[in-house]
Amino acid sequence: MRVLGIDTSCDETSVALVERGKILAARVLGQEALHGPFGGVVPEIAARAHAERFLPALAGVLLKAGPPDAVAVTNRPGLVGPLLVGLSAAKAFAFAKGLPIVGVHHLEAHVAAAYLLDPPPEPPFIALIASGGHTLLYDVPERGRYRRLGQTVDDAAGECFDKIAALLGLPYPGGPSIEKAARDGDPRSVPLPRPLRDDPLDDFSFSGLKTAVLYRLKGQDARRGDPTKAGVGVSDLAASAQEAIADILSAKAVRAAGRLGRKRLVLGGGVAANTRLRELVAERGRAAGITVFIPPKALCTDNAAMVAARGAELLDLGVRDGFDLDADPYSE
Ligand code: KG4
Ligand code: ZN
Repeated sequence: MRVLGIDTSCDETSVALVERGKILAARVLGQEALHGPFGGVVPEIAARAHAERFLPALAGVLLKAGPPDAVAVTNRPGLVGPLLVGLSAAKAFAFAKGLPIVGVHHLEAHVAAAYLLDPPPEPPFIALIASGGHTLLYDVPERGRYRRLGQTVDDAAGECFDKIAALLGLPYPGGPSIEKAARDGDPRSVPLPRPLRDDPLDDFSFSGLKTAVLYRLKGQDARRGDPTKAGVGVSDLAASAQEAIADILSAKAVRAAGRLGRKRLVLGGGVAANTRLRELVAERGRAAGITVFIPPKALCTDNAAMVAARGAELLDLGVRDGFDLDADPYSE
């Protein structure tokens, strides 16, 4: 089945056509230049930009790959205005062409990005999804079933990257900026906490790490009478923060896989584009005898091919939605 995927949940207008795990055409129109001056995504600006960019993105995909057999659209969670643009367009297109439509959970789509790999991971497997708004571990015991093991109790890993980048005066989006700055830094130069890394539960916490960087910058340590710790460079702090986040994420994901006896681990979400995290997960997975599946970077950050992949899975399982399908911005 040829599935048209649509994602407008945040700040990428994305459309893709996927057939049996192969991407036939894909367009991702980013909005970084629009939101950069504000240091984060402005929902109203994002929704308007999606409305302007959606038809060119759709036309590009259809002209290259031809018509689809079904439509899969992200309807949850996300920013409500941006979600409604893609959802309304998806419903109009499906209605006009007489196609089935299925609503997709954005984070489950991040897991399904791995189904676009050759070979794809076969369940059972564990999936670590780390994005700008979410950080969670799924157990996927069988095709189509996503059981949540744990999630962040405060900030998401991507949010932590973004907030630390802002503290360091690095440009938005923060993750790629930190990764770039970290290349010239020493990851062992600044000792930073690893909240909940060794906790037996599968939940995450990143706000303490962000606060530790803030204190380091504002000189709390200096006030405490340890002036040798003041004056740390941006690249050393970036490298140390990146190492701490990659350490926490990789340690917890590999441990959960080991505890549940899963031999495969999938990595996804925008933070999975981070080279150090990819390395560390691959290294620790190998040491634990676990096969690690990491999609190429363009399929880790927001894209519509992953939505089509999750949609295809739902359609195969017989799931169909009606035209009363609504956006659910705060969906768990
Ligand atoms: O999945 P995604 O594209 O959008 C959401 O669903 O949130 O994730 C965006 C997040 C942002 O926080 C961004 O800073 C982070 O992913 N990110 C990275 C990298 N590329 C994107 N974080 C670390 N290193 C990167 N290379
Ligand atoms: Zn995402």
